[in-house]
Amino acid sequence: MAAKTFLLFLFLSFSLAISLAHAAKPDGQPFSRTLRPQKLGKEKLSHFRFYFHDTVSGSNPSAVRVAEAAATNASTTGFGLVAVMDNPLTVGPQLSSKLIGRAQGMYASASQTELSFLMLFNFAFTEGKYNGSNLSVLGRNGVLSEVREMPVVGGSGLLRFARGYAQARTQERDVNTGDAVVEYNVYVFHY
Ligand SMILES: *[C@@H]1O[C@H](CO)[C@@H](O)[C@H](O)[C@H]1NC(C)=O
Ligand SMILES: *[C@@H]1O[C@H](CO)[C@@H](O)[C@H](O)[C@H]1NC(C)=O
Ligand SMILES: *[C@@H]1O[C@H](CO)[C@@H](O)[C@H](O)[C@H]1NC(C)=O
Repeated sequence: MAAKTFLLFLFLSFSLAISLAHAAKPDGQPFSRTLRPQKLGKEKLSHFRFYFHDTVSGSNPSAVRVAEAAATNASTTGFGLVAVMDNPLTVGPQLSSKLIGRAQGMYASASQTELSFLMLFNFAFTEGKYNGSNLSVLGRNGVLSEVREMPVVGGSGLLRFARGYAQARTQERDVNTGDAVVEYNVYVFHY
């Protein structure tokens, strides 16, 4: 008798488990599933080094001011300024050296007490193995510091799953025009 009750109990729990599983995926198609990360292969660490040309002056600037607050011009830090850039990236510090990609995105003056920008942009590579792959950067750029570090929050193409950091060092800056050349060293883990 006890054995029969136990078997019935087993059967009922089993049926319940099955109907719960069906309730969770009514059309038999789950909206998520777990994959084995081994399918991605081995994770690599890459170092990229290039120069970023932020040209704000002249008739053909690569970074343009698109917004500001009423108080922006009176602020010593340009607080409230927003600029959009499509800055060329080259292998050497000269703008005439080989173009390897562009830094596309925006920066906003986000400190009232020092010259510091919120940077929000993509490195879009157009040369070599990483042609067509991109990295996304989101960070704080206190431009008067010798080395600024900004997180790399993701990537696409060969740089999918990228995470790491970018270090920026101003190579030269024209105080009259505001034009700058910045060396970038970017370290990322990716597959
Ligand atoms: C701030 O200065 C810029 C550049 O000189 C000028 O174009 C802009 O109109 C000024 N903005 C305000 C709100 O005064
Ligand atoms: C980069 O990729 C684009 C699109 O596939 C292609 O048109 C271009 O020629 C490539 N550039 C280099 C330098 O290989
Ligand atoms: C990377 O950015 C370039 C240029 O904006 C774009 O053409 C390309 O499709 C992007 N790559 C991927 C893998 O999304």
